[in-house]
Amino acid sequence: MLLEISDIHVHYGKIAALKGVSAEVEQGEIVTLIGANGAGKTTTLKTISGLRPLSSGRIVFDGQDISRMPGHKRVLAGIGQSPEGRGIFPGMTVEENLLMGAYARKGDVSKELNEVYELFPRLAERKSQAGGTMSGGEQQMLAIGRAMMAKPKVLLLDEPSMGLAPKLVQQIFEIILEINRRGCTVLLVEQNAQQALQIAHRAYVLETGRVVKSAPARDLLDDPEVRAAYLGGDLGEAASQSDAADDAPAADDAETGDVRKG
Ligand SMILES: Nc1ncnc2c1ncn2[C@@H]1O[C@H](COP(=O)(O)OP(=O)(O)O)[C@@H](O)[C@H]1O
Ligand SMILES: [Mg+2]
Repeated sequence: MLLEISDIHVHYGKIAALKGVSAEVEQGEIVTLIGANGAGKTTTLKTISGLRPLSSGRIVFDGQDISRMPGHKRVLAGIGQSPEGRGIFPGMTVEENLLMGAYARKGDVSKELNEVYELFPRLAERKSQAGGTMSGGEQQMLAIGRAMMAKPKVLLLDEPSMGLAPKLVQQIFEIILEINRRGCTVLLVEQNAQQALQIAHRAYVLETGRVVKSAPARDLLDDPEVRAAYLGGDLGEAASQSDAADDAPAADDAETGDVRKG
């Protein structure tokens, strides 16, 4: 098991955000965490990357108990994160932003830089452009690219499709698949449950700080409760007919689906 989260409780002051979450991610998998706003998805990722402390429970990564390891050491251990809201440094160039992703590593990072540029040709074209002037989709690519600079064993992605037009959403999901094909394990948080479930191997459903379901992702696509709560009936149908949504400038259903994510 690459990542094992056991019964974690996390608080913001007195408010319990996670009330005993357990989850596992195996080497090579794409695992998705779905759930409504406020369910605890972001908190789960932040706790894995060390940005939030545990109240109780345990996190084991790559055979090592990291429950109390500081965040920068977790990056070196192989946990990469692309945060919610992307966190681009707006005044730095694209390349400077990417290099920030490797700041904790010693030695030459040109190989990683080339790999990121190969994965995101768009970023290679825009090396010298200020991060803050990139479009939403480009900034998302930059955030993912920056996380990849640390050569993570697992990549934590928090709502990578948020606020993006349907065509770009498609592109981001394809990139996630490619990153996984290249050997990186992925833990993906999404409100865009339909597409997340289509690319993931397994999924967990979070509700108010608890895991209420875990299953192979495909099974959840057909699960009546999940369909009703997270796939929004015909919205889900519209999203699965991705060809139409892709080409149409503003396919009504797809647009609505996009707004829901924000
Ligand atoms: N900085 C914070 N201060 C206080 N409460 C927070 C903070 N961040 C999140 N919470 C609360 O923790 C719970 C889980 O939030 P979050 O992990 O952001 O959910 P999600 O990412 O699934 O939308 C929510 O009830 C939210 O209001
Ligand atoms: Mg969130």
